[in-house]
Formats: sequence, C-alpha cells, structure tokens
Amino acid sequence: MRDFIVIDDLSDQEIEHIFHIADDMAGIIDSGGPCLCRDKIMATLFYEPSTRTRFSFESAMIRLGGNVIGFADSKTTSVAKGETIADTARIISDYADIIVVRHPLAGAAKVMADYADVPVINGGDDSHQHPTQTLYDLYTIHKHIGPIKGLKVGLCGDLKFGRTVHSLSYALARLGAEMVFVAPEGLEMPEYVVQRLKLKYKNEPECAERLEDVIGDLDVLYMTRIQKERLPAEMDYELVAGKYVIDKALLAKAREQMMILHPLPRVDEIAYEVDGDERAFYFRQSSYGVRVRMAITALLLGALKMPNSVPTEPPPRLISVSKRCVNPRCVMTHETYLEHKFEVVSKLLLGCAYCEEEPVDV
Ligand code: CP
Repeated sequence: MRDFIVIDDLSDQEIEHIFHIADDMAGIIDSGGPCLCRDKIMATLFYEPSTRTRFSFESAMIRLGGNVIGFADSKTTSVAKGETIADTARIISDYADIIVVRHPLAGAAKVMADYADVPVINGGDDSHQHPTQTLYDLYTIHKHIGPIKGLKVGLCGDLKFGRTVHSLSYALARLGAEMVFVAPEGLEMPEYVVQRLKLKYKNEPECAERLEDVIGDLDVLYMTRIQKERLPAEMDYELVAGKYVIDKALLAKAREQMMILHPLPRVDEIAYEVDGDERAFYFRQSSYGVRVRMAITALLLGALKMPNSVPTEPPPRLISVSKRCVNPRCVMTHETYLEHKFEVVSKLLLGCAYCEEEPVDV
C-alpha cells in the first residue's frame, strides 16, 4: 500500500508513467471505458475550502466507476468534538478504500497516512505541499511544451505560503528545469525550501524583484495568488497583492510561446484580458486535474500497476529529538500525541518530518 503525501513519493519514472495513464484516462472521460474502481469508495476529507481538488477527485472516482463519501466542512463531523486526525484516519479506513485529505495544518496528511490502513492522498496541507497539483502542472508543461529538462520557469507571487510552488519547485529541480523566483518582500520562497533545493537537487534558482525584467527569458510563467488567509496580521494584503499583475502590456514583453500557468483560484494577479491569449493555459491545466487524479487514484488502489522502478532516492533517515518544529501551523504543534520526528536532510540540516521546517529547542 502506498500513499501520496509529498512529490518525492514518486520517482521520475513513475511520474512519466502517470502522464501516459492520464492520456488514456482522457479517452475514458470522452467516450467511457472500463470501470477500473468499481465497488471502491473514496473518502474526501476537506477541512479547508476547495473547488478544484475536491470536485476533480470526486469526478475522477465517479468516472472510474467508484463511489465517494466525505465532507467539505469538518464542523459537521466529530472533529468539532475534538476527534484527532489519527482517530479519524483509523475510523475512515473502515468506511473507504482510499482517502483524499486537505487540512489547514502542515503535515496533517502524513499523520493521516501514518494512522490509516488505506492509501492516503494529500490534497494540500497548509503551506507545505500540494503534490497532485504538481502532477498536473508538470503534465500540462510536458504535454504542450515537452521535456522539463532545460526549461526556464518563473514562479511568481506568494512563494512563502503557497503550497503549490513548494512541491512544484522540488519537482522542477529534480527534472532539471531552471527556476526564477519573483515574490513580494516578506513572501519569498522559505529558506527551508531553498536549502533543500540546494542540498538535495543541487539547484540554485535566481531571484528577481521585477517580473518585467525576467519575463522575456521564460518558457513558463507560474503565477500564484497571495494567500490572504495565511498572511500574518502585520502584513498589508493590499500592498502585496497589487505588486505582480500580468496584463496585456506585460505579456507584450514575453516570448510568443511562453506558457502561463496558475493553480487557481486567481484573484487579481492575471487580468481577464489575458484569458483569450494563446499563452494562457490555466483553464486547460485545471481541466487536466481530472485525468491525472484518475490515474493516481487507479494506481494507488492497485487497479493499474506502477512500473517496477526504484525510488529516486532512499527514504529519509528520521530521528526523534527533544525539539519542536518552528512552524506554529505544523501538525506536530497541535496533535500532542505525535512523536517529535525530524528528517536528516544533511549533516547540517534537520527538517520536521511532517512539514519540513526547522527544529527549535523545546
Ligand atoms: N488549485 C487548487 O488546489 O484549487 P482548490 O483550492 O479550489 O482545490
């Protein structure tokens, strides 16, 4: 049984395999096909709002011939009475064959996976990772541009709290892309991500302050919204939100073939006048979520086989120490039964086993 919690849970070969299966799934969406997951039940446990992730997973499971149970508001469940993630995982394992979870605590999907007896898919855990989003971000690039290696990809917007850019940057680094980070002051890519990119993948992205200075060099521009709901109280949303907006005037400086992606929802960072431009791929990207999620669901349920490949790297070495995670929104800080486990990233760097951030003394 396998879970899909972080993008590194899949090898490069497995990611490519998923792209092939996603292409086949497009045929099932268009004209029907075998019910690969008949009699299987997916539980979608959404402790945080979602449109794309929840509905596309549910659509994927129904198109595979399976059934769906779940919630979109945890206040209507026994979570409101104080039930832990661990106990919820154990209980739902008796009701469903696979779990998709979205949670406002970083690392919550890993806890769910540690305690569930069925495969768990991370549908986004706070600012940590969103690995299925990354799969279809990569699928869109691969399908319409080609191999990722050597491409120059700009990641722009809230790089601190946006989970999509964390999992995507690891994948792009692994697959050999060059990256440019463009973020407002205070919302730059977190140091723990930058350190991992350097230590694990030997990748050192450029940083730029002005999008107009770099847009002409990019093959792909990945825009993101400012995560208003995660900003600290002292940060002025209006000040940072207006800093990077792509409109027709800015697009005039970009290459004719540059692809614009966005995980959506957008707020103001892409003007509506851009939607009709041939370079605007974000709605197509979103539509690919169903076929890619069909592929990963069928694979994790064992309805289709993964290739016999070795993982890209051995599993991380974990140690238990009397420190806590620095991140106030880490699951370790909130679910008190959890062991304080840290991953040895390098001789000099320990990262929380749940959210990847640094340890601090208790
Ligand atoms: N991209 C994405 O995760 O969208 P939702 O928050 O609507 O699921």
